[in-house]
Amino acid sequence: MATNKWSIIFLLAMIASLATSVLATSIAGKSFIVGDDKGWTLNVDYQAWANGKKFCVGDELVFKYPVGKHNVLSVNETSFQKCIISPTSEPLSTGEDLITLDTPGKKFFICAIGKHCELGGLKLCIDVLPQSKPPGPPATGKEIMQCIIPPPDANQALISGYDIVTVETPGKECFICGIGKHCELGMKLCVNVHPAPVPASPLLQGTRKLATTKNLGSK
Ligand SMILES: *[C@@H]1O[C@H](CO)[C@@H](O)[C@H](O)[C@H]1NC(C)=O
Repeated sequence: MATNKWSIIFLLAMIASLATSVLATSIAGKSFIVGDDKGWTLNVDYQAWANGKKFCVGDELVFKYPVGKHNVLSVNETSFQKCIISPTSEPLSTGEDLITLDTPGKKFFICAIGKHCELGGLKLCIDVLPQSKPPGPPATGKEIMQCIIPPPDANQALISGYDIVTVETPGKECFICGIGKHCELGMKLCVNVHPAPVPASPLLQGTRKLATTKNLGSK
């Protein structure tokens, strides 16, 4: 009987810590790989890809493609619709271009090579929302570094005294202590999460997990 009670308590604790981990990772901006596995390439329906996704200020788009084959140009709505490429435009072309969404509103991206936009459908339009869900936690690394703490909401802070956050998506992830002026006094951390290296052995995967402790325990 006693064992049963403890296993239920253990289970509840597991569920609670999982739930807070998920909420904690949503504090930092999300990173979207445009087209997911397909990447940035011809004949993919990017509007279908964007459908149902929630893009917020602070999130990041990653455009992946073989260098030289495509590029990424941020354009206005007219250029997007008509695939007009200004001769003076300077597209991104690293093959893994990161674009941080730092203002709300519609954003338009096209490939500026040949007729890729016109005939290959290599264009993406997304609508960026002001910030992640209300009452939103700070959405950008900059806001976090300025110690803007979200409205008191116990669900948004990890408080176990040994909080483990697995960084799951590439991009910038930031953490602060949400108590008093602790953040202003320096309790803050931003890390750059790199995409996983290609040959990922199960052994290495364990070591890529990042542990952060939010509250300094008694030890
Ligand atoms: C959109 O961008 C094109 C190409 O850079 C430019 O010629 C045009 O004036 C812009 N239109 C608006 C409405 O800003």
